Amino acid sequence: MTLDEILNDAFGLLAAAIKDRAAPFRTVALATVAAEGAPDVRTVVLRSFDAGARRLSVHTDARSTKVAQIQAHPAVALLAWDPMRRLQLRLRGQASLRAGDAMTRDAWEGLPGATRHLYRLRQAPGTTLTDPSPNQYDEAPEAFGFARFLVVEIAFDRLEALHLTHLGQIRARFDFAGAAVDAAWLVP
Ligand SMILES: Cc1cc2nc3c(=O)[nH]c(=O)nc-3n(C[C@H](O)[C@H](O)[C@H](O)COP(=O)(O)O)c2cc1C
Repeated sequence: MTLDEILNDAFGLLAAAIKDRAAPFRTVALATVAAEGAPDVRTVVLRSFDAGARRLSVHTDARSTKVAQIQAHPAVALLAWDPMRRLQLRLRGQASLRAGDAMTRDAWEGLPGATRHLYRLRQAPGTTLTDPSPNQYDEAPEAFGFARFLVVEIAFDRLEALHLTHLGQIRARFDFAGAAVDAAWLVP
């Protein structure tokens, strides 16, 4: 196995996750920097992946905690694990927030109605409740949710793959600077 093959395999699996809801990398852990440098992490759905531009994106509610964290500290990390292939991916990058533009509108219109509905939650995600039924939605038209819909674009400059094989562990690191790739094998 070559470093090129490892990278192509990782990129192929990330691309597959955009089209296939059952793909193992469909959901990833997105880590952010919270107040006072503390880490925070949560599951998100991978929504777009551009291997050439080294960019991917996820969707979120503009009122969510992660958005304020990214505004304060754009550095993020992503973690994904495919138990069938026994492959872990770690990505490091810088996040930027997009709202209200044509790209965001396209992403919004490509979502099923049930997903768009989630953005009509009356109270901000993370608001304290007195009982566990949070699903109070605004009565306004579904399009209203677009005002809260945000695309988090992540430009990644590092990808690490750890493959657990029957022969042992294979770990590879890829650093990206523009079109250039600096690749190396690492001790697992
Ligand atoms: C399977 C799964 C998929 C999720 N996908 C998303 C997502 O795409 N975007 C999102 O904002 N939250 C998603 N969530 C909810 C987040 O994990 C998190 O609970 C929520 O966004 C609030 O996070 P925050 O308070 O750190 O902003 C998902 C949760 C699960 C379990």
